[in-house]
Amino acid sequence: MSFTVAIDGPAAAGKGTLSKEVARHFGFAHLDTGLLYRATGLRTLDGTDPVEAAQALQAADLEDADALRTPEVAQAASRVAAVPEVRSALVNFQRAFATRAGGAVLDGRDIGTVICPGAQVKLYVTASDDVRAERRHKELTGKGMDVTYDAVLDDLQQRDARDSARATAPLKPAEDAVLLDTSRMSIQEAVAAAIALIEAAQG
Ligand code: CDP
Repeated sequence: MSFTVAIDGPAAAGKGTLSKEVARHFGFAHLDTGLLYRATGLRTLDGTDPVEAAQALQAADLEDADALRTPEVAQAASRVAAVPEVRSALVNFQRAFATRAGGAVLDGRDIGTVICPGAQVKLYVTASDDVRAERRHKELTGKGMDVTYDAVLDDLQQRDARDSARATAPLKPAEDAVLLDTSRMSIQEAVAAAIALIEAAQG
């Protein structure tokens, strides 16, 4: 039996950490769908066509986490993510992952709305712009990246605006998603809230 947890929300809201912890707790597989768009975006930086880049994506392209985490690649990801043919090239892989036996957590922007509308649990994770920029700035500088707080804030705000305004699969909560504002929550509190919701859905 498959059991799917969909975790969506704006940039750097804490979806990644939350998803990893939840997946670990329940023994579910985890897919960070942002990596698919980041890897596609990275390939377009040398002029490759976005649709061809998405169609040619291989598992190995998702492995170089540091190269995929830069703000430049994040911007490229958000641009290619607005192309309907890029999104459709990535649908089957995500749906197959979501329905694998043993349970799966997918985090992204359109998991609860488009990729897995039948997910057993849907969470929409947010935090204030300031909190998100601070967390992401700390994460990137912790990896030795030379970025300012203002540049990080700019990246998040630009991507959120583009991701929310696009015609195909825009960033928005599913009607039946549970909203989780983590601005004043520790990661442990957010994880505990998500675990309680999933346990309730498991019955
Ligand atoms: O980690 P962060 O929240 O900053 O971003 P991400 O989840 O890695 O996603 C990078 C970009 O990919 C987003 O800004 C979106 O434009 C796009 N994306 C998307 O359109 N749909 C998804 N399911 C996941 C990411």
